[in-house]
Amino acid sequence: MNKLLILSWLLCSAAQGMPLTDGRPEFGKKLFDHYNCNKCHNKKMGGDGNTIFTRPNRKVTSQQQLSAQIEVCTKNVGADLSAQEKIDLAAYLNQNFYKFK
Ligand code: HEC
Repeated sequence: MNKLLILSWLLCSAAQGMPLTDGRPEFGKKLFDHYNCNKCHNKKMGGDGNTIFTRPNRKVTSQQQLSAQIEVCTKNVGADLSAQEKIDLAAYLNQNFYKFK
């Protein structure tokens, strides 16, 4: 099999199949602050951007949706994150706000 194919397969399966328990919330928090993730959320919520994660009509209601939203939002900040870093962000948000099991 061609090397690129193997690599992209590895990357995809890592992004989709990695459980949140493999994430490192403390690194996620660092990434979150580094990329100023709440910049838009603050504006949208008119104050504390973190309330976007616990608002009654929040978008994310499962781990899959959390991963999907992180994909969208990391593109928002123009960040080129590794699969591990995205899981770290997810683990941070899950530990502090979503609390999916
Ligand atoms: C360019 C603006 C922007 C930036 C920067 C941004 N986001 Fe978002 N984010 C949004 C908007 C807008 C929404 C709400 C989408 C909606 O309501 O349809 C959102 C929603 C979310 C949600 C879902 C909230 C819910 O309702 O459950 C998550 C999770 C999230 N962002 C994570 C992140 C992370 C992690 C980063 C940093 C890597 C980030 N965002 C940076 C604009 C941004």
